[in-house]
Amino acid sequence: MNVDFGNALASEAVTGVSEGSLERLDDRVRRAHDRIESGIGDREFGYASLALPEDTDPGAIRSALEGFDPEAVLTVGIGGSALGAETITAALGRSEHYSLDNVDPERTRELLEKLPLESTLLNVVSRSGTTAETLANFLVVRKAMAEAGVEWTDRTVVTTGDSGPLRALADEHDLPVCPVPDGVPGRFSALSAVGLVPAAALGCDIEALLAGGAVGQAALAPSLFECPAYAYGAVAYALETRGATTNAFVPYAEALEPLAEWFAQLWAESLGKDGLGQTPVRALGATDQHSQLQLYRAGRKDKLVTLLRPREREDEPIPETDIESLSYLGGSTLGGLLDAEFEATEASLAAAGQANVRLEVDRLDAESVGRLLYELEAACVLVGELAGVEAFTQPAVEWGKRAARGLLGGGDFEEATAVEEKTVRR
Ligand code: PA5
Repeated sequence: MNVDFGNALASEAVTGVSEGSLERLDDRVRRAHDRIESGIGDREFGYASLALPEDTDPGAIRSALEGFDPEAVLTVGIGGSALGAETITAALGRSEHYSLDNVDPERTRELLEKLPLESTLLNVVSRSGTTAETLANFLVVRKAMAEAGVEWTDRTVVTTGDSGPLRALADEHDLPVCPVPDGVPGRFSALSAVGLVPAAALGCDIEALLAGGAVGQAALAPSLFECPAYAYGAVAYALETRGATTNAFVPYAEALEPLAEWFAQLWAESLGKDGLGQTPVRALGATDQHSQLQLYRAGRKDKLVTLLRPREREDEPIPETDIESLSYLGGSTLGGLLDAEFEATEASLAAAGQANVRLEVDRLDAESVGRLLYELEAACVLVGELAGVEAFTQPAVEWGKRAARGLLGGGDFEEATAVEEKTVRR
């Protein structure tokens, strides 16, 4: 990933950071890097995520998928057990990957009616094996398969931990199981079986995805001026301390729209603690130039706008026209227009003193995507270190999961009692 933070400097932006303070911050980046490296080396909880390019065995994923040649893949998972997989297949143009990461009955029914269940691979993912939404969806899909005369046990692969109800069910029916890696929270698990199974099943080069991650790992260095991941993380952190409490993440490629969602989870769930954390906002260029850009340019200067694009795209020419007022479009390309929109937005934000950072990848291929995911994760871990927050836990998310299970009668959880008390009071 290439990072250009020129428009986030104090000389350019209202909440910008001076070069001098970035140089001073670099001392802390060096110490954070040492901490991260030792955490990776010892495979400590959370830091182990940044060792996935070495630790994930693509052969094990391929052997769990032996015998499957699906027309479509349906992932049943939620949060970190779905977004990485959705991000990777979308970025690599695999539109045959669908996912159920919500329990909306209408959407579920609609999807099950549309999918060719007899040639769909059901990919059930849950680290804990206890998440209510995932297990409920699994039961619904399993029934739909059975009703369509499809032997669901022949078409299901599971990714889960060593224990829990999902593991028990997989063992009972002798389903192929991919293990979840130790010490890796869901949102950091894209470069493991959690994120790679659908990509592998749909013919993506998962070895190249991991090789890209390895390039990102090799690029970690003890200075923000030498390491793109840390440059982005350090600048985002410095801007947050200067009032940029929102991070609007705007890819200029539809294939990267799920990445904005993945990024939002990564940033929010990892850094939203102790009264700190930038609020991530998902947007899409150029579409959201016609909605949100007004706010980003002229609203409160409490934001970092992150603009992301691939440098090369498969392009589509815009036909010539004899309508004179449209002649400026003819002979150009849709990609050329999108790039012009990107650059115009960047310049327009800079002219208004709105801090923005440009991220670029060479193209949307497996290696670049693997590297991008890795480097955004490393940026997030760095922000956690600089801010002194525990990036690898998600107590608020776990609270909600226990409350929901308790309310449904799935166990005796004090969180559910707390919800009931609040409800009664109202
Ligand atoms: O990042 C996380 O830890 C969460 O978003 C989880 O991935 C999500 O809650 C799903 O959990 P599980 O994989 O246990 O079903």
